[in-house]
Amino acid sequence: HKKLKPFPKDFLWGASTSAYQVEGANLSDGKGPSCQDVKEIPEGTSDLSVCVDHYHRYKEDIALMAEMGFKAYRFSIAWTRILPNGTGEINQQGIDFYNDLINECLKYNMEPIVTMFHFDMPDALDKQGSWSNRDSVDWFVNFAKIMFENYGDRVKYWLTINEQNMLTLVGPVIGTLRIPEGTTNILKETYQQNHHMLVAQSKAMQLCHEMLPNAKIGPAPNISLVYAATSKPEDVLAAQNCNAIRNWLYLDMAVYGKYNNLVWAYLEEHDACPEILDGDNEILEAGKPDFIGFNYYNTMTVGEADDSIVSDAGADQQSSNGVAGVYKGVANPNLGKTEFGWEIDPVGFRGTIREMYSRYRLPMLVTENGLGAYDKLTEDGKVHDQYRINYLREHIAQVQLAISDDCEMLGYCPWSAIDLISTHEGIRKRYGFIYVDRDEFDLGTLNRYRKDSFFWYKKVIETNGADL
Ligand code: BG6
Repeated sequence: HKKLKPFPKDFLWGASTSAYQVEGANLSDGKGPSCQDVKEIPEGTSDLSVCVDHYHRYKEDIALMAEMGFKAYRFSIAWTRILPNGTGEINQQGIDFYNDLINECLKYNMEPIVTMFHFDMPDALDKQGSWSNRDSVDWFVNFAKIMFENYGDRVKYWLTINEQNMLTLVGPVIGTLRIPEGTTNILKETYQQNHHMLVAQSKAMQLCHEMLPNAKIGPAPNISLVYAATSKPEDVLAAQNCNAIRNWLYLDMAVYGKYNNLVWAYLEEHDACPEILDGDNEILEAGKPDFIGFNYYNTMTVGEADDSIVSDAGADQQSSNGVAGVYKGVANPNLGKTEFGWEIDPVGFRGTIREMYSRYRLPMLVTENGLGAYDKLTEDGKVHDQYRINYLREHIAQVQLAISDDCEMLGYCPWSAIDLISTHEGIRKRYGFIYVDRDEFDLGTLNRYRKDSFFWYKKVIETNGADL
């Protein structure tokens, strides 16, 4: 039994959302369409026009977060609310909205943690090739500069690109990442886009440090430690390959500005290395994160490659078929699953944090973790989500164990503060501490209800994690 260290005094307890999943008002008050607003909505799921109407009800929502005692609220800024066409004219109503949102957080001493890009590329820029266009670097840096200018006096924590690794590995499943028609080498095209995102991120980190010397900025990939299916040496090599492709590439780039050698060799083999312009390597090395933000849902388990598997794209962010000649995804017989088929691995959370800290030695902020489940509102307005409490309790306990392993942790912002629309499974897959009365197609009253997990999390925060 490990001797536990307490959570740090100023630990950032909070929760997360993203603009396109929570706000609604997706084409109101001057907001332009993003890729999410023009995508094909998965059958049987809600569109994104209302979501949970956070755009109009953020005051009520933030008051509820304050009631839970949140020290931080992580949300994203919708690029097309600020710049309806992605570049060019600024929409003042969009600027005002996020000013109000930030001020509302500060009113309750809640640290606003801003994600600069969360799966919502402006449609106007998608039409110009999205991240495959080299200009995307400038588009993003321009957007970043506007955010720093307008909100940098109050926002101390910035996150660059949410789950860039998932965009690259399973982009189409989450309604983003465009592969131009006629592309013959899809892998090369994908990693070219990925390269542009990396350069854009690095420039944004540099700009943040220049413009806002007191602010902190970091990436926010989805990091899941990859296990070998067995102790067979070939399986262990496959797990190393998958770890490199899925996880370390992104953090090696953010922290060291260097391509992971296993990934580079894999791309070389498939004639898929991105084109690197003169000066890119200098840019990549110059941008440094102050911390690592990361989303964790579960681990992955892989074995020796199976040549029949050609693509990594599994059913969604947390599943993977594998890559021919590199690794093959398998189920982990030691783990249970959520109602939506995602494996549950609290111990793997500790393992993931330990591994990341030993590789990068930077403080870490959990930007997502959580349980998607069917919740039921009772007649007397309650939601008995003991399953969510159990999930979160077990994961928070592992964060404390990782802290006791001397890993430096800044905070814990699970997914999600309030119910919202999932990436491709509608609102029936709920994550929030706050229940919103609406269904997939029936908008209901949109009234807010405190789930059992709301009261439980309040107590966790009150006791700084001593009472789980
Ligand atoms: C992460 C995303 O991939 O997981 C969120 O950053 C997403 O946007 C969350 O909602 C949960 O995934 P899903 O598919 O259940 O919505």
